[in-house]
Amino acid sequence: MTAGARLAIDVVTIFPEYFDGPLSASLLGRARSAGLLTVDVHDLRAAATDRHRSVDDLPFGGGPGMVLAPGPFVTLVEGLYGSIEARPRTVLFTPRGRRLDQPLVQELAAEPALLLLCGRYEGIDERVHQLLATDEVSIGDYVLAGGEAAAAVLIEAVARLVPGVMGNEASGGDESFTDGLLEYPQYTRPAEFRGLAVPEVLRSGHHGRVAEWRREQAVARTRAVRPDLYAAWLARQGGRDPSR
Ligand code: ADE
Repeated sequence: MTAGARLAIDVVTIFPEYFDGPLSASLLGRARSAGLLTVDVHDLRAAATDRHRSVDDLPFGGGPGMVLAPGPFVTLVEGLYGSIEARPRTVLFTPRGRRLDQPLVQELAAEPALLLLCGRYEGIDERVHQLLATDEVSIGDYVLAGGEAAAAVLIEAVARLVPGVMGNEASGGDESFTDGLLEYPQYTRPAEFRGLAVPEVLRSGHHGRVAEWRREQAVARTRAVRPDLYAAWLARQGGRDPSR
């Protein structure tokens, strides 16, 4: 944890090297260099007590695979914060968790600190859930080998909401999901490419018409490809779609 950062994230994993790329590239690398956010990755094996540094064991009751034991997780967390009780909001990644969405990302980004625990899909001792997790989070209805990819997704989504990270503060807001609609289509030069022209309205210089067109496009696109998001948005509008 570094003093001054807006958000301090600790990650616990058996594959610390997994995070080397995602954490140093692009937006996250810049945000960390600027001290806006810290991400410290901790190797679960460092908290193992035997000479083989083992962190897993056979499942009670039998069955395939190995189960990550509770001891190393608790030892590591106590080492980081002094006690279990002093830990920050703690996310354990598991397919049985709450589905990650932008409201949850916004909630987590508002915390001063986060602890992310990466499990392994085959198994993590239930007492890790009971003793350490304040939140169980899934990034979708599919099975990953472990929580590392999910942690990388969460870190990126949360980091871009930390003030100062996006450079242009506006771009954190005017986009997909922030008001429950998907993003409108974007164009840059050339005005015509392979027979496809940029819509005339975007070249008109008329800000009011541009804003109206973008809104209509966002609504139409959401209605076409994400009826679930459209229905929720429509309900928030009091059931009225102004574009219809
Ligand atoms: N671990 C395994 N599968 C996962 C998923 N879909 N989301 C989060 N953590 C996981």
